[in-house]
Amino acid sequence: MRTRTPTASYRKDMKAMAIRRIVKFGDSVLEKECRKVEKFDKKLHQLLDDMKETLADANGAGLAAPQVGILRSVCVVDVGEGSIELVNPEIIATEGEQNGAEGCLSYPGEYGLVKRPMKVTVRAQDRDGNWFEKTGEALCARAFCHEIDHLHGVLFTSHVSRMLTPEELENGFIEEEE
Ligand code: NI
Repeated sequence: MRTRTPTASYRKDMKAMAIRRIVKFGDSVLEKECRKVEKFDKKLHQLLDDMKETLADANGAGLAAPQVGILRSVCVVDVGEGSIELVNPEIIATEGEQNGAEGCLSYPGEYGLVKRPMKVTVRAQDRDGNWFEKTGEALCARAFCHEIDHLHGVLFTSHVSRMLTPEELENGFIEEEE
């Protein structure tokens, strides 16, 4: 997912990482269901490291594996409070509602109005296979929904009530009142 302000911190010291190419809309890899991760090995760790590097480089709030061409249930979220790695994530609880601007690194420069829950709890595995639960609110909840959608081939455009105009974006559009 993409926010309109840079949030992720770029870490130049992590030399082993590599920035991967982000797949853009129109590529069918973005519309496929991801397979579950079963091996929590070096290859997975490399993928997660590369995804975090790619996300930071792109100033995004979240990135899902299909966006780097990998159909595995893996995503990373960083809304400015440190990055969260989610392997085989699922949403187990939601609460409330928010209606605001949302974009995607696979749709450069495009933002739409998307309704999401205000609070989202996910259950996922970490890079070593340990299960954990994490609750996110506001932007973090939005990013959880957006990235987990990606793992099921669902793009934010299917949730958009309307796209935002360049004027609205320039004026700092954040949230629409009902
Ligand atoms: Ni996206």
